[in-house]
Parts: sequence; structure tokens; C-alpha cells
Amino acid sequence: MTSPLLAALRSEPVPHTPVWFMRQAGRSLPEYRKLREGTKMLDACRDPELVSEITLQPVRRHGVDAAIFFSDIVVPLQAAGVDVEIVPGVGPVIDSPVRSRSDIAALPELDAADIPDITESIQRVTAELGDATPLIGFAGAPFTLASYLIEGGPSKNHEKTKSLMASDPDAFSELLAKLARISATFIDVQLRAGAKAFQLFDSWAGYLSREDYDAHVLEHSASVFSALAGHEVPSIHFGVQTGELLNSMSQAGSTAVGVDFRVDLAAAATRVQPGQALQGNLDPALLFAPWEALAPRVEAIVRKGLDLDGGFVFNLGHGVLPDTDPEVPGRIVDLVHEVSADILGR
Ligand code: CP3
Repeated sequence: MTSPLLAALRSEPVPHTPVWFMRQAGRSLPEYRKLREGTKMLDACRDPELVSEITLQPVRRHGVDAAIFFSDIVVPLQAAGVDVEIVPGVGPVIDSPVRSRSDIAALPELDAADIPDITESIQRVTAELGDATPLIGFAGAPFTLASYLIEGGPSKNHEKTKSLMASDPDAFSELLAKLARISATFIDVQLRAGAKAFQLFDSWAGYLSREDYDAHVLEHSASVFSALAGHEVPSIHFGVQTGELLNSMSQAGSTAVGVDFRVDLAAAATRVQPGQALQGNLDPALLFAPWEALAPRVEAIVRKGLDLDGGFVFNLGHGVLPDTDPEVPGRIVDLVHEVSADILGR
């Protein structure tokens, strides 16, 4: 039997609404913090034993319908030879930012042979998960990776990135094309090793106007989906603050589109392709509200999701926040299953 997650992403019938959480593995879990003690983030990401254990932790604890591969969007850059570090509390920091045409030309390509550890990690995870719970692979989208490379780290305004985009669109395009190949290779390795779906994270796309997204970004994200089309697995295209971009993002070739908490699901459905599945969109900050206040919000999203023409996957509008009570996601999973099974069974 197809899993509820894979069915929903393909807009096929499900017995209940599937649910998983972006950043379900990570600092909100005490067992994660214990395991990570003394190991740098990017070293942890390259250690198959740690990766498989960390990936499985939230599946065991929360009973989610999918595992998400524990890694980071900068892992393929590091594996290709880019000097990058993840600084706690800050995010990825790049030693030599990419600013000029010669920097772009010098950026290495990623070869599948650079990441045998990723294959091993995925094989370990999928062996433990069995057929019941699919593993979702992922990569960063070309624009989000480009912003880290150009700015040298997380940026509030993305001014150097947008300056290059506006002043030298050909160089910008060459950089994004290169990053699209890196992302596609990273996901391809994950799918060959046993991941059953994938999500492309364009976390910074929401900082662009639709005009700039269409002119400079869309074709490169689309090329990631087209490069992986032969795998015939469902896929999710997600960004934050992308309400104005949903129609463009829905054209990139994914089976599902991720929606952040700022956009009503019914409105989102009018912006994506007819019948395309949606994923989202509970505000992660609401997990800090008392259960009596949170439960009706969860139920409301389940009902809206089941009213859509296409499939629906329950998730947050962005990642689980580090200080979230680790008991809360599991309660949400149970409620989503209960409410949706009840509605679908009627
Ligand atoms: O969702 C999951 O559980 C899978 C694992 C995952 C991580 N990063 C683990 C991680 C995924 C899918 C990512 C993607 C990622 N990484 C994105 C796209 C998603 C998004 O949040 O918009 C981005 C922008 C990054 C870059 C990045 N890596 C940031 C901003 C940070 C946080 C830095 C900090 O300390 O606040 C990281 C580090 C990171 N990646 C952590 C985890 C669990 C925290 C590291 C730690 O535990 O110390």
C-alpha cells in the first residue's frame, strides 16, 4: 500500500491526513541535544550513524508519517569543496564569498562520488524505517544557496545578491545554474539510496518580487525538478513569505507546494496549478500556546486541507522552533490523524 504521505503528495485518496514537521529533528528534542554534544553540525551531517539516529528520533517520538533526512542545505556545497561552517545561533558562514565572475567560474561541481556517506546514511535510515514510513530527501534551492554564497552568511536584506542579479544577470544565471546541478545531484544520490520523496527549500525566495523571481530564479529551480523527473517520486517546493510567488513556484514542476502560515490554504489553492497538492501551514509559534488554544487551530487547518481539490499534507508554515515543548508535536500528530480519519470515514 502506498503511504498516506506519498498518496497525499500525488493528490490520491488517503485514510487520514499525513503529517510531518519541518525541522522535526533538532534542538527541540532533548535526545538530539544529547547526541550532538561535542560534535559540530557539519561533522554530524557526514556521520552515517549519527545521521540515521537523529533522523529516526522524531519518528519514534512523534509518530509522524514521514522522516526527513537529517542534513543541511550547505552539506553539498561543503562536499563539493566550498569552505563553509555552521555557526551555532547564526547559520551557515562562507569563508570566501562568491562575488565575481571568476569566483563563479571557480565554484566546484558536486560529484556523487564526493558523498558516499549520504548514500550510507540513507540506506541505514530506510532499512530501519521499512516500507511504512517514507524518507523525504531535500536540498536547498539555487537562489537560497546563492544568497548564502554571495552574502557570506545569513542576510537580512540580500543586498549583494540582488545587486549581482540586477547588474550582471548572465553571471547570476550561471551561478544559479551551477547550484541547480549541485542540488539535483545531492537529491539524486538521496533518491537512488532509498528516499521516496523530496523537498526543495527556497527559504529566501520570499525576499524577491515576482518579476525578479520569474526573470532570474524560476527556470533554475525548475531545472532541479526536471533533472529528477525520471525518479517519478512526489516532490514539494517550499519557501517562506512566498504568498505572492505561489503561482510562479507552482510552475517549477513539483507535485506539491509548501505554504507558509501567512496564506490561507483556500487562497493558496487558487494560486497553484489545478489539483496540485498543498503542504502546511500551522504557525510554529502557536505550538507555544496552551493546548486548549492550539487544538482548534490544528483542527481548522485539517478541515481546510480536506476541503481542497488536491491532496493535503499537514505541516508547519516553517520549521519547529528550538524551544518548542517536545511533547506538543506528537499531540498534534494524534489530533490530525483523529480528526481527518473521522471526517474521511463519514
Ligand atoms: O527539517 C529537518 O528536521 C531536517 C534537517 C534540516 C536542517 N536544516 C537541520 C539543521 C533541514 C531540512 C535544513 C535546511 C536548512 N538549513 C534551511 C532551509 C529550511 C529553512 O529553515 O528555511 C536553511 C535556511 C538552512 C541553513 C541553516 N542551517 C540555518 C539557518 C541553521 C540554524 C543555525 C542556528 O544555530 O540557529 C542551520 C543549522 C541547522 N540545520 C540545525 C539543524 C537541526 C541547528 C544546528 C544545531 O543543532 O546546532
